[in-house]
Amino acid sequence: MTESAAQIIRDRTGGAPIRIAMILGSGLGGLVDEVDGTAIPYADLPGFPGAGVSGHSGQLVVGRLAGADVALMAGREHYYEHGRSDGMRVPLEVLQALGAEILIATNACGSFRADIPPGELMLLDDHINYSGLNPLIGEPSDRRFVNLTEAYDPALRAGLRAAAEAEGIALPEGVYAWYSGPSFETPAEIRMLKMLGADVVGMSTVPEIILGRFLGLRCAAVSVVTNMAAGLGNEQISHEHTKASAPLGAAKLKRILGRALGGF
Ligand code: HPA
Repeated sequence: MTESAAQIIRDRTGGAPIRIAMILGSGLGGLVDEVDGTAIPYADLPGFPGAGVSGHSGQLVVGRLAGADVALMAGREHYYEHGRSDGMRVPLEVLQALGAEILIATNACGSFRADIPPGELMLLDDHINYSGLNPLIGEPSDRRFVNLTEAYDPALRAGLRAAAEAEGIALPEGVYAWYSGPSFETPAEIRMLKMLGADVVGMSTVPEIILGRFLGLRCAAVSVVTNMAAGLGNEQISHEHTKASAPLGAAKLKRILGRALGGF
């Protein structure tokens, strides 16, 4: 599956180089419009996610963005869709086989911190895998024992922080907790996750970072805060709200990436 998807991408893009793979979260898919390159629907790529979640458009776009050779995945598979946490394994294997060395994941999240309200961004410096799931369960090789001590690459983080600073955009760092979804959390669960040391919560990214490290990719991830987490804000938490709120942060993220990617 990996080789046939890789071959389709080579054929359609004329062998365009890929250095940075990016996964675009809910409401963040608009970044593909900035890429000068080739779009391929996931439906044409064996092993890529099927019809997913509204707000995730389901296409791979390979080309140039801000001076870098990129492959943007607009749309991801989530654990809550089918009960599989390794849904992004083939896409990441394919992009790694095509030359990707860096993975940047983005997501929408709920914040626990009053100083990181909706519309703001957070750079992940660590995560809590609260789901207890792992995309490497069943992987037979000893490579499955992945070291996650510095899962979020310090040099990439420094580059993203510097770009944010130059753009005058706040980019605090913090811990992302992975909660399986698809229901949102209860206020009691949010109080618990906060006590455990998390700053934000979301339903993705963690399995992708585990897979990315497994594949030897240097990884970074940025969250766009779309709401205060359950019990902490006044707005009604909903997927509609997530999709409507993400573009606020997405505009900032675009500026940061526009400055940072060329230097990676
Ligand atoms: N919880 C989990 N996932 C989310 C949230 C949230 O509050 N907001 C956006 N994605």
